[in-house]
Amino acid sequence: MTNRKPLRSQAWFGRQDKMGFYYRSFLKNRGFPQDRFEGRPVIGICNTWSELNPCNSHFRTIAEHVRYGVLDAGGFPLEFPVSSLGEVTMRPTAMLFRNLAAMDVEEAIRAHPLDGVVLLMGCDKTTPALLMGAASADLPTIGVSGGPQLSGVYQGRKIGSGTNIISMSEQLRAGEVTLEEFHEAEAAMNRSHGHCMTMGTASSMASMVEALGIGLPTNAAIPAVDARRNELARLAGRRVVEMVGEDLVPFRILTRPAFENAIRTLAAIGGSTNAVVHLLAIARRVGVELTLDDFDRLGRGVHCLVDLMPSGRFLMEDFYYAGGLPVVLRDLGEQGLLNRDALTVNGRTIWENVKDARCWNREVITASGSPFKADAGIAVLRGNLAPDGAVIKPSAASPELMRHTGRAVVFETIEELHHAVDDDSLDIDESCVMVLKNCGPKGYPGMAEVGNMPLPQKLLRRGVRDMVRISDARMSGTAYGTVVLHVAPEAAAGGPLALVRNGDLITLDVAAGRLHLDVDEAELATRRAAWRPPEPLAARGYTKLYIDHVLQADQGADLDFLVGRSGSPVPRDSH
Ligand code: FES
Repeated sequence: MTNRKPLRSQAWFGRQDKMGFYYRSFLKNRGFPQDRFEGRPVIGICNTWSELNPCNSHFRTIAEHVRYGVLDAGGFPLEFPVSSLGEVTMRPTAMLFRNLAAMDVEEAIRAHPLDGVVLLMGCDKTTPALLMGAASADLPTIGVSGGPQLSGVYQGRKIGSGTNIISMSEQLRAGEVTLEEFHEAEAAMNRSHGHCMTMGTASSMASMVEALGIGLPTNAAIPAVDARRNELARLAGRRVVEMVGEDLVPFRILTRPAFENAIRTLAAIGGSTNAVVHLLAIARRVGVELTLDDFDRLGRGVHCLVDLMPSGRFLMEDFYYAGGLPVVLRDLGEQGLLNRDALTVNGRTIWENVKDARCWNREVITASGSPFKADAGIAVLRGNLAPDGAVIKPSAASPELMRHTGRAVVFETIEELHHAVDDDSLDIDESCVMVLKNCGPKGYPGMAEVGNMPLPQKLLRRGVRDMVRISDARMSGTAYGTVVLHVAPEAAAGGPLALVRNGDLITLDVAAGRLHLDVDEAELATRRAAWRPPEPLAARGYTKLYIDHVLQADQGADLDFLVGRSGSPVPRDSH
């Protein structure tokens, strides 16, 4: 293979002096012969394996297959760990640490003798964290997702991770299932390696990897335990070695057309609202000026083609067997909704990758002529309650609530909500609008997935299953409901959300993109003058750094000093 420019790793390994001895010698403790150091592209396998992150628990196996691929192609693979973000294990929320992990990834890539990188990503935040870090470091990179779990099956019916946790916990609270059944369902839901197998955040982000072109075709949906997932990893290992020779860096892949493809794909898969925040953050790392309005403009009129939970019936395993994301991308391309020339990591355009994709099950992947849900892109809302925007996922909302005016029932904190929501004396009915404050990036901190607030038990008992809910939080991609999220600016930053009081009328009009607090400006000014910011949540450490520097949701909730990219210049010698 001919490299157009010298391998970066040769600044470590190609030296015949004291430092060359130093850099090579310590690695030779594993038995690597001298020829490993003589001009082979060094490929970092960036691994988020962790026993504390069950969704990524099979990543040692995937890393081995990437390693075989790198060796097949004549490269020199070196695996390294980075912070792993387990959605279900980390408190107060894995999102608090997304930017920390992104820093870890970026600095690890830059500090080491690497020429290219394969990113192993699975559980929700691991994907944006690794993409953000790798984008800022800008070495040739392929993303490999860990793949979804096999479908959950309980009492003869499919159950989806997250989605059925929410529905079953509501059934338990309403006395419709026993505790024993609840425990049995836990084991039946997560029955294999892999990440959540609904179209939640992990699956949405794995789809974004494929739609952005930073992963290989079929990356999104191959189940974690399907041998073809290992084959994909091996092919990625082979391909990244070639990419080093082509200097095919993320900056050439993650272009504005690629992000536009991702936004439309997100609408076509009924993907997670979390992907909005993550795509904004990734785009800003590579200097693409993506805004919330792009989501509104590009997603409008795009139909949801896949009948997957949380909006629909099927799961990621079904999606893969039906043809997976290439079928959706082909349909978008045929509708004129795909920037066909966007370059992908395999060196081909996205259209070349998907133009012959075939669908094997039109129940799971519908055609745009008869879509699962029409016009299902994530909607952006603005108004005096969200001057910098808020989002709602229409495909997961109740049609009858998409235009609604109701009396606000306000919770200042998540603890207050949990304390009050099941108190039968709470003055609330199904026409009310539940408002939760102080759960945004600074306020929680970390913008936790608490926006899909539990409904009051007294209303659940009456069969109420949805209400309008508004907050500065996020919600799990596996959740559903008429839930307005990401209100910006957030309450803890002094946004108008902080000024809402019990009894105020709030109007939601999704079709008009409007979120309005029906309180006159003079009264709001009085309330604003009386508002005091919450007590600081951290006096030191990373959490303080985060609160001091985190951007609002409409800007991707990155840290202000991490926006942009620095590339991978070779740092000074260490000794
Ligand atoms: Fe890891 Fe859902 S908890 S992907």
